[in-house]
Amino acid sequence: MKNIAVFASGNGTNAHQIMRYFAGNSKAMIRLVITNNEKAGIIHKCKQEGIPCFVFPKDNFVTPYALITFLIQNNIDYIVLAGFLLQIPQALIKEFPKKIINIHPALLPKFGGKGMYGINVHKAVLEAGEKETGITIHYVNEHYDKGEIILQQKCAITAGDTAESIGLKVQQLEHEYYPETLKNIIK
Ligand code: GAR
Repeated sequence: MKNIAVFASGNGTNAHQIMRYFAGNSKAMIRLVITNNEKAGIIHKCKQEGIPCFVFPKDNFVTPYALITFLIQNNIDYIVLAGFLLQIPQALIKEFPKKIINIHPALLPKFGGKGMYGINVHKAVLEAGEKETGITIHYVNEHYDKGEIILQQKCAITAGDTAESIGLKVQQLEHEYYPETLKNIIK
């Protein structure tokens, strides 16, 4: 059995889909969830699903040794980022090489990098006049949003789309493809 830790900072709709998808799976389980935000919606969703959720405030991602020890003590094999908005420290990447996976709400390498998260990404895509956008599932390496790409899926941007409507289309792709892609990586 592989143990997954999910990191989430916000609403946690992706984390929630992942928790549901892996419930009862015989090869991998969501062992715990970590958030940096004590007000994150994910905390309530974890209670609902009976998955332990731990708050590690931002400092733990600047000096990550307590966090790394905690993950090792809990036998974590994979770290899944699901709307996690802090940068992953190098020491953590070194400890879990090719074992940290992220989802980005656009077609990397475009619209990635610092400050590019959530609605900011969709606004930038719209302003750039793109005809399509989508999702990128990738490994996390030492270069922000530049790790090896595992999967991309696209959706069209049509007349009348707003950053919010693009966000909904992208979220649909995320929920459809992220859990299944994780399953394929872990097996
Ligand atoms: C998702 O769209 C995810 O791709 C994005 O944050 C959202 C979180 O939604 N992540 C990034 O922008 C990372 N750069 P959720 O909390 O409802 O899962």
